[in-house]
Amino acid sequence: MKFTLPKWYDLHAHFRQDELLPATIQSHLAMGCAGILAMPNTKPPVTRVSGKNTESYWTIESYRAELEAAGNSKLSEIIVPLYLTKETTADMIFEGAKSGLLKSCKYYPPHGTTNSEFGAPIKTYMENGVLAAMEEAGIILNIHGEEHALHGEDYFGKNSNAEDFFYRERVPQIAEKFPNLKIACEHITTKTAADFVSQASDNVVATITPQHLLYTVADLLQGLKYHLYCLPLVKFDEDRQALLGAATDTGNTKFFAGTDSAPHTHKATACGCAAGCFTGLIAPQLYAEAFNLSEQNFDAFKNFLCLNGPKFYDLPISDETFTLEKKSQEFENLKIGGQEVTLLTNGLNRPALSWSLSQND
Ligand code: NCD
Ligand code: ZN
Repeated sequence: MKFTLPKWYDLHAHFRQDELLPATIQSHLAMGCAGILAMPNTKPPVTRVSGKNTESYWTIESYRAELEAAGNSKLSEIIVPLYLTKETTADMIFEGAKSGLLKSCKYYPPHGTTNSEFGAPIKTYMENGVLAAMEEAGIILNIHGEEHALHGEDYFGKNSNAEDFFYRERVPQIAEKFPNLKIACEHITTKTAADFVSQASDNVVATITPQHLLYTVADLLQGLKYHLYCLPLVKFDEDRQALLGAATDTGNTKFFAGTDSAPHTHKATACGCAAGCFTGLIAPQLYAEAFNLSEQNFDAFKNFLCLNGPKFYDLPISDETFTLEKKSQEFENLKIGGQEVTLLTNGLNRPALSWSLSQND
């Protein structure tokens, strides 16, 4: 069984900096990516639009140029969202939009995930004119939808968790106060989020990662498979089924691929674990596995992987193609200098993928 698809966009991924950057960009090109949305949680973070990088902040202009060079200009589209902080102003949004460099802004819950300590609570931007400016200027809001500073059962409990809370208490209010704001709910993991996005206006969409379509918290806990530790955490099977239902529904165009691939060279430490799964090289194969790709659901798969995302971001569909075949494929971990980034599937001790990917150029 073989399927040929247009090259796709990964509309949520982490490429970092220094020697990790070329290696991770190349792994995205190798899995048939036409373009990327590269998250701004670098060190320092991308909190300004134009000009040169400094020691305390990076700019969209400079980081984009680095990403482009690392991909030898083979990526047709590179979006870098602006990292929202207390310092972000409405004027920065209007000027950024005018410059053409600013397409979206990323909300990070303060201290909620890897390199998110510069974020401020969402209320800040609802009240200080930043979201209003984004709504007016047509700038997309990328939301990491978890309530910050929750603990114990409130953070991850049987009946609620940080994401669940955020999609009940925060995102509906944002969508109501700023009805024309385009919102991309990133890496959703719960039935609550999937249901909210499905019933919201066309301005509200969501990305879904391969790991959240394939795995649950049981897979993380049995054997403590820490390579599956990412945020938001994998949840329960009811949630996974809701995500799968949303992703495979041909009737909607709101859900699309955003792998959240995040390279970590040090995952587990003596006092905790770095959040992020690395799915460079293997993401379309994992999405195909999650869909149980067949003639029957090929259209839904193509919508999810290749069409819905570029439609929302107003990006062209690539005329280059790649092929997925139901045939086993294995990859080595990325070796960069003396460091190693473990592929999610290798970290789960299941190196043989059930789909293989080849490029047609
Ligand atoms: C991401 C990272 O490592 O940069 N980690 C993750 O668990 N997904 C940050 C993020 O998107 O939360
Ligand atoms: Zn991310």
